[in-house]
Amino acid sequence: MRNVDVRLHRDFAIGTTHPRLFGAFLEHLGRCIYGGIFEPGHPSADAKGFRQDVMALVRDLAPAIMRYPGGNFVSGYNWEDGVGPVAERPRRLDLAWMSTETNRFGTNEFIDWCRMAGTEPMLAVNLGTRAGDAARNLVEYCNHPSGTALSDLRRRHGWEQPHGVKFWCLGNEMDGPWQMEAKTATEYGRIAVEAAKMMKWIDPSLELAACGSSGRRMATYGAWEQAVLEHTFDHVEYISLHTYLNNYDGDTPAFLASPDLMDDFIDEVVAIADAVAARRRSAKRIMLSFDEWNVWYRTRRNRRDRVKEGWPIAPPILEEIYTMEDALAFGGCCIALLNHADRVTAACLAQLVNVIAPIMTETGGPAWRQTIFHPFAHFSRLGRGRVLRTQIDSPTYSARYNDPNGSNDEFFTMPAVPYLKLAAVHDDTGGTLTLFALNRSLTEALPLRVQAAGFDGLAAREALQLCDADLKAANTRQQPDRVVPKPLTAVGVEGGRVEASLAPASWNVIRLAVR
Ligand code: AHR
Repeated sequence: MRNVDVRLHRDFAIGTTHPRLFGAFLEHLGRCIYGGIFEPGHPSADAKGFRQDVMALVRDLAPAIMRYPGGNFVSGYNWEDGVGPVAERPRRLDLAWMSTETNRFGTNEFIDWCRMAGTEPMLAVNLGTRAGDAARNLVEYCNHPSGTALSDLRRRHGWEQPHGVKFWCLGNEMDGPWQMEAKTATEYGRIAVEAAKMMKWIDPSLELAACGSSGRRMATYGAWEQAVLEHTFDHVEYISLHTYLNNYDGDTPAFLASPDLMDDFIDEVVAIADAVAARRRSAKRIMLSFDEWNVWYRTRRNRRDRVKEGWPIAPPILEEIYTMEDALAFGGCCIALLNHADRVTAACLAQLVNVIAPIMTETGGPAWRQTIFHPFAHFSRLGRGRVLRTQIDSPTYSARYNDPNGSNDEFFTMPAVPYLKLAAVHDDTGGTLTLFALNRSLTEALPLRVQAAGFDGLAAREALQLCDADLKAANTRQQPDRVVPKPLTAVGVEGGRVEASLAPASWNVIRLAVR
């Protein structure tokens, strides 16, 4: 393959990554909470029932913010069920995942878990079966110091200090017919704005995310964002986006091209949000919360599948086993997010444990890292800083990516997908320049040449590569380290020039010391 040239300049930045870009998600779904982060009686569990083997992996993954309690689950959730004495908490049918919810874990346990994990809590309120009243009560319960019925209830429950939760999602995927009490954009916009007003009257420091479309293929996409923002513009800081990539067709080149559709999705939502601002002649900029993103297709289900299984407690559902090629597509998503650091200032990998997750556990047994764990840990640990603009000259290929809508195929034609997808992050305080580079060619190495203007004395600090001759290789309980990053050798650095050979189908991280 011919050389792939990348040019960047120290002074030309897209933006600085917000810590909330590196978030993840915990939903009451399958074994995410129960048997995932929370398993009283597990040999590694502490007095609160928090699995410490999972906690160690979470700290290694380093998510900066954690969304909770859903997802689809939140649209039928009564937050009051999950607080107070555990023995008195009701069992409920969860219509999102056709499971029985025991409510042994609730908001206060989540806050404690976040504090222990060193991650910021992000709470979603139920705007499906409930509305503004329940939302404002939850804010009062969580954030009001004392002296009212709800804040004093929290104190009686054992949490004297307010939780101080800043980031709140106004419902979840309210455009989706699968959602409990799905709404039209106008119905949702009205409920969301009234909830937002009351929530901020209680705590003006809140940052709120309105629901965008649950996916770019939704029939109402675009019109939904516009209508929702017309209602909520003055009262929210964020609009949400969700994307799950797939390889249903077994077309790996198209699958690896699909993260570029996330770039398009972001650009489109920015355009719509800014059009709403322009009509108001407003300087306010709505930020994007990409609060669900991942690869997910093998374990997608419809409600009929779920009904057959009855009402189990924490069933093993959506337990996607990730392969090497999934980690590559996933890495492409990380690069897409970095390259929009100016407008995507919150994002959540969906989800964290067992359910479409980077961490897997065996109930009563060990915990291990899935393939996608590794690119996320690189992204989260090394992606913080100024994301630089890059000029990439790479050979391209054409792809046709299928994103089926129910049983109907829906193709996206991508005529010129660069084999190289790359982001460059300059961490001024740490004194590093980090290159995240995905080689999407399945057969050829990419000879990478980077000219980093303004960085005259670069020196190689660390270079890692994730690749495997078997694109279907996965990490399992028996072989938890089948796919792990290995050193990327022969990185040439001279002045501001960097050269490396990127193996076919590889995820690469090159960390350079800036002198
Ligand atoms: O993350 C799994 C599910 O995907 C979430 O509950 C929902 O919001 C989305 O459709």
